[in-house]
Order: sequence, then C-alpha cells, then structure tokens
Amino acid sequence: MTLAVVPAPAEMRTDAAAAPFTAAPGSTIEDVVSFRVVPGGPPESYRLRVDGTGIEITAADEAGLFYAVQTLEQLQTFHGDSWSIPAVEIADAPRFGYRGLMLDVARHFFDVDTVKAVIDRAASLKLNRLHLHLSDDQAWRIALAARPLLAERASASAVGGDPGGCYTKADYAEIVRHAAERHMTVVPEIDMPGHTHAVGLAHPELVEDPVVSDAVQDAAARFGGGLPTAGEPYTGFAVGFSSLRVGDEATYDFVADVFGELAAMTPGPYLHFGGDESLATSDDDFAVFVARVSQLIADLGKTPIAWHEAGAAPRLDDTTIGQYWGFTTPTAGMDEKARAFVAGGSQLILSPADAVYLDMKPEAGFPLGLEWADGPTSVRRAYEWEPADLIDGVGENAILGVEAALWTETVRTLHDIDTLAFPRLAAAAEAAWSPATGASALRTWESFRTRVGRLGPLWARRGIRFHRSSEIDWSAA
Ligand code: ACM
Repeated sequence: MTLAVVPAPAEMRTDAAAAPFTAAPGSTIEDVVSFRVVPGGPPESYRLRVDGTGIEITAADEAGLFYAVQTLEQLQTFHGDSWSIPAVEIADAPRFGYRGLMLDVARHFFDVDTVKAVIDRAASLKLNRLHLHLSDDQAWRIALAARPLLAERASASAVGGDPGGCYTKADYAEIVRHAAERHMTVVPEIDMPGHTHAVGLAHPELVEDPVVSDAVQDAAARFGGGLPTAGEPYTGFAVGFSSLRVGDEATYDFVADVFGELAAMTPGPYLHFGGDESLATSDDDFAVFVARVSQLIADLGKTPIAWHEAGAAPRLDDTTIGQYWGFTTPTAGMDEKARAFVAGGSQLILSPADAVYLDMKPEAGFPLGLEWADGPTSVRRAYEWEPADLIDGVGENAILGVEAALWTETVRTLHDIDTLAFPRLAAAAEAAWSPATGASALRTWESFRTRVGRLGPLWARRGIRFHRSSEIDWSAA
C-alpha cells in the first residue's frame, strides 16, 4: 500500500497487516502524540512511528516536529469524530535547505489574510521560504518610512486596472510572524534595475523613459494595457522596458534607503534584488549596477539573491545566490549565467520556468494562466525533472534549493492561486524535499500521482480549490 505522504519521505515502511492507530473520539493529534526533540540529526528531520498502541515523533528541532505533524495530517482518515492512521515508520529529512514558493504581489495585490493562507498551504507541503515579489512595473507594494512616496503614489495600480494595495510595516511584520510560526522565512524582492516603471510614479528623477520595443508593442496588442508612458501607471503584461538611472548617484541613495529599511524589517537572512529582464539597461551598466547592489546588500549583513541574469556581471559580491528561471533544457546561455554563481563559490536556487512556474496553464484552454514558458505545463512535467541534472556543472552541492513561482498577471484571488498552484505545487515540493528522482520507489510519477490523489479530501477540508487534473488518480478521494 502506498500511503499519501507528499512530499515523499526519505524512508517509509508500512505493514498493511498491522493494526492502525485509532484515536479516541474527539481527540486531536496534539492530544495523542508523544513529541520529543532529540538534537543531533539533520536540520528539520524527524522520525515517526505509528502502531495500534500510539504515535511517537522524535525530531532534530522544532521544524522537524512541525513537519512530522504535516505528515500525520496527510495520513489521517476520519470516521465521525474519531480518526485513524495506518501503522507506519518514517525517517525523513529534506534534501535541500531552501524550499520556496514565490508569490508575485506586484501584478496583483493580495491582502494579508490571503498571503497567510498561501503560507499555510506551502508550509503543509514542507516548504520553508516565502519569496514575495514586492515591486514591478505595475506597482510597488511595501510602505517604507525612508521613501513614503512609493506607497503614496506607486501602489494603487495593478494589471488590468484592478485595485492595488500596499503592505504597511505592521502588515509585513504580521506576514513575517505568521510565516515564522510555520517555520517559513520571508524573502523580500525589490526587482531592479528593470521592472521599475512604478518607481517613476513616485521618483521620476530615478528612472529612464520607457523603451517601447517591438516585443512591448506585441504584448500590448495581445494582452491590452496600452504602451508604457512615463509617469502613468502601467497595467499591461509587457516586460523589459524600464530601467533605473544606473549612472546617477541618487539611484544608489534610493537603493540604500530601500534595502537598508527592508533589512531592518526582515529577520531572515536574504534580500532579493531581482536583476531579471533588464532589457532597457545596457550590458555594461547592468554589470556595474548589480555588482554594486549585491555589495550593498552584503554590507547590510544580508545574503543577496538575484535572478540568473546577474551572473553575467563579473564583480557580484561572492555570497550572492543565483536563481535560475530558464528551462529544464537550458537555452540562450542562461545556464552559463547560472554557472557563474557557482564558479564564484555560491549556490543556486532552481526555478525552471517550464516545470515550476505555476502561472503556466496546466492544460490547453485553461481559463487562468499564460503559456510563454513552453506551456501548458502538465502536472507530470512539473514533477518529472531532476534538480541535479538541470545544468551541467551544477550538482547537488551547488544547489541551495528549489522554488516554485506564481506570477500573477492572470491571478486575482485565493481561488485563482489555489487553482493554478494545486496540485503542481506538490510536485515542486517533492523536488525540493524528497530524495533524487528514482532514488526510492516513491520518487516516480506513478507513485506521486497516486499519493497526491489521496490528498484530495484533506485539501477539500482545508478549503483549497485545487484543479482536479485528469492526470491525477483522485479515485481514493
Ligand atoms: C522571471 O521570470 N523574469 C524571473
């Protein structure tokens, strides 16, 4: 029998003939489980033993206890006000220390309760990083005391002319707190030097005029939203037309104010400075800019993260982590740029766009999502890739982790988030947590589609409006 544990544990032994544990009516997991922290094992690891007499969890740390409880909740079957769990022994530890979900709150704004709901969903799949994409051409989403005009003038817009919004410092603190309670670290991103049209609504002196290329015109023709105009909110889908003025010292004062305040608000170690699709910045200017910003962030005592394009710059701070968003078969030299981070002694986060960009349509004709990253992206494609085989020269030790990304051009509500993220987020979580592809009988597509299918009732109980993909075997649900 394959039990519905997702992501797949490192080791799992079941005895179908053994009696399950059956809880007394009305009792909760916390009432019946014996919990023990035994330091010394790998971070976040746990052991779980269930038999007819009881449930024991030992874990290396508090995070390990939390993940053991997530596993138990996946294994619970309810009978009236009682529940049971099959006899099982699990010894589990994550493959990668960085297991992320990125939520784009710039193209559309999501209130604090929605972000908390996203954290709950991600944490239940043993993800431990929430990357918030807090700024883009369409809007700026975080209120900063040092630069109040950003919240005042650059946060009201969104794609399609939808309502905007902005997190206050108290909102951000609440998101960070809610995440930390679930062993999740918030990774804030302020994207630059491109993706900065909205900065110009507050500080026109810091941005160049939009560069309206053929690609920008095509995007406007296809998706609407008009052409970007200096000083006007941009509500379309195009990318690559904006740039900070990288030759002006005032720009670096701005960057220092923004990341200085964000560093003070962010207990986690990472600050992400974007660096993707800076098509309106010359290559030389881009290299100078990203090197300087990475050093500034390192000087603040934080670890910089940048999208892989920044790997082209020769003098990044050598602690800078790269985030690869090319395809599972790299194109256009993206692997070369990604490898540069590793050559510099750092590591990569893997977000292959044709596998774990959750905003790609899961199937042709789907009402939500886009197709540019070789979409539609099936659940199977989201599952069947192996992190250590993605980029030549980037093996296990060069990989910090895996991150799924949800860009939100077409996404407006928690319902939309659920429909695009589930079940594919579970596939990304398995790439991030579980042993390498083929390393156990559980790490196969056939096993995954059965295990995930059995989570349907749990997800439904939690109000997750997942897509009932025909690729998944929901028959036990
Ligand atoms: C990206 O998809 N531009 C990171």
